[in-house]
Amino acid sequence: MEKKWFKEMSVYQIWPRSFCDGNGDGIGDLKGVISKLDYIKSLGVDAIWFSPLYPSPNADYGYDIADYRNISSDYGTLDEFKTMLDEAHKRGLKVIMDLVVNHTSDEHEWFKESKKGENNPYHDYYIWRKGRKPGKEPNNWLSTFQGKAWEYCKEIDKYYLHVFAKGQPDLNMDNPKVREEVKNIMRFWLDMGVDGFREDVITFISKKEGLPNGFPLPTATGIEHYSNGPHLMEYLHEFKDVLDEYDCFTVGEAPMMTTKKALKFIREGENQVLNTMFHFEHMNCDNIITNWIVTPFRPSKLKKVYKRWQEDLYKKAWNANYIENHDQPRIISRYGSEKYRVESGKMLGTMYILQSGTPFIYQGQEIGMTNANIPSIDRYKDVSSINNYNLFRKLGFSDKFTMKICMYAARDNARTPMQWTNDKNAGFTTADEPWFEVNKNYHEINVQQAENDPDSILHYYRKLLSFRKENDIVKYGDFQLLNTEKNIFAYIRHMGEQQLLVVCSFSEKECAFRCPKQFDIESSELVLSNYDKNIVIHNGFMTRPYETRVYFIK
Ligand code: NOJ
Repeated sequence: MEKKWFKEMSVYQIWPRSFCDGNGDGIGDLKGVISKLDYIKSLGVDAIWFSPLYPSPNADYGYDIADYRNISSDYGTLDEFKTMLDEAHKRGLKVIMDLVVNHTSDEHEWFKESKKGENNPYHDYYIWRKGRKPGKEPNNWLSTFQGKAWEYCKEIDKYYLHVFAKGQPDLNMDNPKVREEVKNIMRFWLDMGVDGFREDVITFISKKEGLPNGFPLPTATGIEHYSNGPHLMEYLHEFKDVLDEYDCFTVGEAPMMTTKKALKFIREGENQVLNTMFHFEHMNCDNIITNWIVTPFRPSKLKKVYKRWQEDLYKKAWNANYIENHDQPRIISRYGSEKYRVESGKMLGTMYILQSGTPFIYQGQEIGMTNANIPSIDRYKDVSSINNYNLFRKLGFSDKFTMKICMYAARDNARTPMQWTNDKNAGFTTADEPWFEVNKNYHEINVQQAENDPDSILHYYRKLLSFRKENDIVKYGDFQLLNTEKNIFAYIRHMGEQQLLVVCSFSEKECAFRCPKQFDIESSELVLSNYDKNIVIHNGFMTRPYETRVYFIK
């Protein structure tokens, strides 16, 4: 497998609104980011991915962009961005921008022009249709975030399509002028020196001709007609011609992706259009299809998914590994245990960072932040949480039941301010009130505490990331899942003469780990673990709650 810089790197994701407030207005900003660059560097990561920093009315907190070539005044100025970019580069940190081109904000100039009517040169930048008959939308599509996927515009007697919130009209990518705009936006940031893009729902950009009715679902009806649509590959090839002019990195966000489909886009060679992809399969082990249809967490499903992605892509394509981001509730509260927070936090980090692929770490994950458990819908900020809550209530579920789901599944769980210290507002802001409430557990869980505790999750992540950096087997070795009891996830990585064994328990109960005879762990070197006194008996051990051990097999 060819070595590349992006395969060597690990990435820290910043959701800017909640990372660090540098000017005391209660909202995270670039000044705050600059003040934390040394901290980010100290983790051992090589790049930062920024969720959108652009001007936005925040219908979806930045994922509704009003100007692709500027920085939101909430976060600073373009000059401050350039300073941040320089400072990051000085420290050897690359900078990856979020590229959101499936849709814009309804406050983008293009959209304002577009809704002036058919004769406006921007009209065809968006997807406008006449109703089927008066008062009836052009088709039965539902948005993911807010009711119908169509919004009526009285002035021109037409509807515009929005597969997310109302304030996020979908761009008409079939219009070559729109694709030119996208390429110019890419050039704008790459010329400034950014190092790559995370491409938001990029697999949604091509809609099926005729926009046929979709299979009826409670939400996102029509998705089969725009996910992996007919011209997706063609458009990505066009974009790639621009990307090829630069040495940059791309990761495409790809809901409902399978390894088979992913290989069409990311298989190394002539037809490759993206370096890697974010799939969601491993995030569906405690739910069905959406995070809101909650089921008990099943480690057996997680193992199957990872086996598939590790094996199917090996020597063909590259994985993007993550267990948290701004769309996912905190992983300790889902696949780990709040009771065994430190143990399970370390285990979960080991489990995914030591697989092949580029690891992504979301702000706060490295200190083991947990779900915010906000008990009342009035205190939620995210459009999709509020919409899902209303949908469940409309379907007849009680407030108590719906709130329980919401507390577990809402994206808000990942969006509370970063917990820096034990001081007021967790040291996130000097303002009286942060834009969004701080998780109450910040007295126990914060960066300052973690720095002072040699056994913290934070110090363990540093060890994990430096171990990955120093050992090619972690990046380029192959992956073999071991047959174990259901709550243990154990795998071997091989490269040349080297073999690395990773054992992870997903249970607080004792489980028996028996290592296959061909690997002798008694005489092996223990390189990472989350407990002391790591005894081995008969080439195995009984696991302690959420135990993890990593051995170099001798
Ligand atoms: C995926 C982003 O990660 C999410 O936060 C956003 O709401 C949707 N795409 C729409 O842009």
